[in-house]
Amino acid sequence: MTESEIMKKKIKVGLLGLGTVGTGVAEILQTAKGRNPLVSDIELVRIAVQDTSKKRCISIPESLLTQSALEVVDDDSIQIIVEVIGGIEPARELILRAISSGKSVVTANKALIARHGEEIAKAANDAGVYVLIEAAVGGGIPIIEPLKQSLGANRITQVSGIINGTTNYILSRMSKDGSDYQEVLKDAQELGYAEADPAADVEGQDAADKIAILSGLAFGGAINRERIPTKGINKLQSQDITYANKLGYGIKLLAIATAIGDNKETASSLPLALCVEPTLVPKEHPLYGVNGVNNAILIDGDPIGEVMFYGPGAGAGPTASAVVADILNIAGVQVLNNSLNSLDPLLSAAYWRDCHLVEEREILQKNYVRLITEDSPGVIGKIGSIFGDNDVSIQSIVQFDANDIGAEIVVITHQVKKGAISNSLLSIRELTEVKSVEAHMGCL
Ligand code: HSE
Repeated sequence: MTESEIMKKKIKVGLLGLGTVGTGVAEILQTAKGRNPLVSDIELVRIAVQDTSKKRCISIPESLLTQSALEVVDDDSIQIIVEVIGGIEPARELILRAISSGKSVVTANKALIARHGEEIAKAANDAGVYVLIEAAVGGGIPIIEPLKQSLGANRITQVSGIINGTTNYILSRMSKDGSDYQEVLKDAQELGYAEADPAADVEGQDAADKIAILSGLAFGGAINRERIPTKGINKLQSQDITYANKLGYGIKLLAIATAIGDNKETASSLPLALCVEPTLVPKEHPLYGVNGVNNAILIDGDPIGEVMFYGPGAGAGPTASAVVADILNIAGVQVLNNSLNSLDPLLSAAYWRDCHLVEEREILQKNYVRLITEDSPGVIGKIGSIFGDNDVSIQSIVQFDANDIGAEIVVITHQVKKGAISNSLLSIRELTEVKSVEAHMGCL
């Protein structure tokens, strides 16, 4: 191949954002040796940053930098736009503008895709371009492409897992050291694992964005992101981790999406139960050993059974690995084959039916409940009767401690509707012997 043929083959990429992930992407593209030969066909030609004069940890030719994102999006020589600025606006507008000018897009922006994924996918399909999002969920773990392609033959019945690295790091440390939430959060921020404003991670919103995206792909219908019941780890007490451990469980922030029924129904809209919350995970469960910033996603499907995807769920390198994989996919199928307007159906975004979320009260789960009560005769009996009256079957009930604050009672229920547990806890709170319902969470 002559040099001019090689030059002609180069695929030109514009980058929006040069933060942690953007820097990771630039680093991979600058060091192509030893990677797939296609990496050396990718050329980073323009980068939009907030401040062109800022000192950077990698060397980037100044001529590539601009403070105008529009200059990058509107550059006619660019075929692929990589959006790693995050947030809803201006990311949404920039992506739609890139699509309308015939550019494919790679984005790690889970908040945007969870809320505007349908609009963006439609625009991309209409324009005959791709919007690929491997980096939006699970950091470096390949999960989006397997859901679109390798698992396509299956009827998916459940997607569940640990999909937030920051909270998994915090919970792992709390469990290992017996430290308090606030103390570990401070350490995590100092180590750069948690953001200065950790709200989206610790309140579970980041995990809710991600399970919305995974469910849309797994079940084939757009998910109403705002309706996902979401609880974070910010109210979790170390006492519950200690008790969970004594009972043979760990506590993880789980995101769970389940198809109601066996997903064979032909009803016009598939009912789904989705939630994000701290959950007790038994020691023998595959998610129990997933610690630190690692993520793991379990997919249950027919006929495959259960598969688990595990790996680093956050960080510059892993996330950049996923971004560059998407660039290579687009380069391979579209740019090099010059196949604009004929999208590969396994790579493009497609919903093929409607899905809807069932009411939170209808979601089935096992429960962990910790109560502080008076240490007096008959208390456990009264609590048991209230659960019984609400059709809640108890798996175990243990009084852990009786001290000057009272007795601590931990109940694990069998699987029941969330509504039945809520009703029970309302009545239990009314008992004069019950001082407080200190904790309530799900249990596998
Ligand atoms: N903040 C996310 C996490 C990483 O902690 O998992 C990016 O998705």
